[in-house]
Amino acid sequence: MQEKLNNIYKSASEDIEKAQSGADLDEIKLKYLSRKGELNSIKKGIKDLSVEEKKVVGSLANEISNKLENALSAKYKEFYQKELDAKLEKEKIDITLPGKYIPRGKEHPLTSTTEEIVKIFRTLGFSQIPTADAPEVETEYFNFDMLNVPKDHPARDVQDTFYTKIAPFTVLRSQTSNAQIRTMEKMKPPIRIIAPGRVYRNETLNARKNNFFHQIEGLYVDKGVTFGDLKGVLNEFIRSYFGAARPTRYRSSFFPFTEPSVEIDVQCIMCEGKGCRTCSGTGWLEVLGAGMVDVNVLKGVGIDPDVYTGFAFGVGVERLAMLKYAINDIRLFFNDDKRFLEQF
Ligand code: DAH
Repeated sequence: MQEKLNNIYKSASEDIEKAQSGADLDEIKLKYLSRKGELNSIKKGIKDLSVEEKKVVGSLANEISNKLENALSAKYKEFYQKELDAKLEKEKIDITLPGKYIPRGKEHPLTSTTEEIVKIFRTLGFSQIPTADAPEVETEYFNFDMLNVPKDHPARDVQDTFYTKIAPFTVLRSQTSNAQIRTMEKMKPPIRIIAPGRVYRNETLNARKNNFFHQIEGLYVDKGVTFGDLKGVLNEFIRSYFGAARPTRYRSSFFPFTEPSVEIDVQCIMCEGKGCRTCSGTGWLEVLGAGMVDVNVLKGVGIDPDVYTGFAFGVGVERLAMLKYAINDIRLFFNDDKRFLEQF
C-alpha cells in the first residue's frame, strides 16, 4: 500500500509539473485528490489494516495529500500570476498617446437665432403658441382666404406656392401668417402671440432666396393698439437683436392682410450699404413685413374692428442671422457643410 501511495505521489507530482494551465490542474485535482480520486480509494482500504500499519499508512497518505495540495496551489498561483501579467500587458494604456477626436454636434445657427428672437419678444410681452397649432401643411383657407388674399392674387399662383395632393385646397404654407387666423379663431382679445416656423415657396434660388425658410409671426390685438405701438415694439426688437444701432428703414408696402403695411430693411452688413451680391446691389436686406391688421381679417374671425385693433408682423429668421453673422448666402444654412456649422 505504501508503494501504491508513493507511486500515486510520483505520477501526480509529474502531472503537476507538466501542467500547462489552470484547467490541467483542475483535471489533476479531480484525478488524484477528489472524493472519487485515486488517493481516496487507497485511504478507504486503511480501515482493514492492522493498528500498526494504519498509523504508518495513514500518516503517509495524509502527508502525500498535503504535499500534493500544496504543489497544486503553488502551481495555481503561478498560472494566475502569468494570466494576470499577460492581461495587464495587453490592456496597457499609453497615456502619452494623443486622444481620439470625438466630433461634437452643435446647435444650428437658425435654432439659436430663433430662440434669441423668441426671447426678445417674450420680454416684450408676447407668448409663443405651440408649433402644432399652426401646421406647415395647411389649407388655402388659413394660408390665404382668411388673410384676405384675393383668389386671383399672384402669390397663390403655382409659381410661388407649393400645392399638395394630400387633399383638395392644401398647400405647404407660404407664410407663418396662418398662425394669425388659427389663433384668432380660438382666442378672444387681448391677444399677444408669436409663432415661429418653416414656410415654403417655389422660388428661383439665389443668395437671398431658398425654397423653404423660417419666419416668426407676431400678432397683437387689443383695444386701442396703434401704429405707434407697432413701431415701438419693432424698433425695440431690432435694437435688442443687433445690440447696437444698425441703419434701418421703414418702407411703405402692401399686404392683403394689413392696412397700412410696411417692410423693414436693415443695412447689408456684407457691403455696409454699398451694394453687393447678397443684397443684389441695393445696400439693404428686407427682414420683416408688418402692418395694422386689416378690418376684413378681424371681421372674418368675428372680432369687432370698431372695438379692437391690432398689428401683425412676420420676421425672416435667415435674413436676421445673415445680418448678424455676415453670412453672405442663405443656402449655407441648408447644405450641412460642417466647416460652416462649426463656426457657431
Ligand atoms: N406674411 C408676410 C410674408 O411672408 C410677412 C408679413 C407681412 C407678416 C405683414 C405679417 C404682416 O404678419 O402683418 O411676406
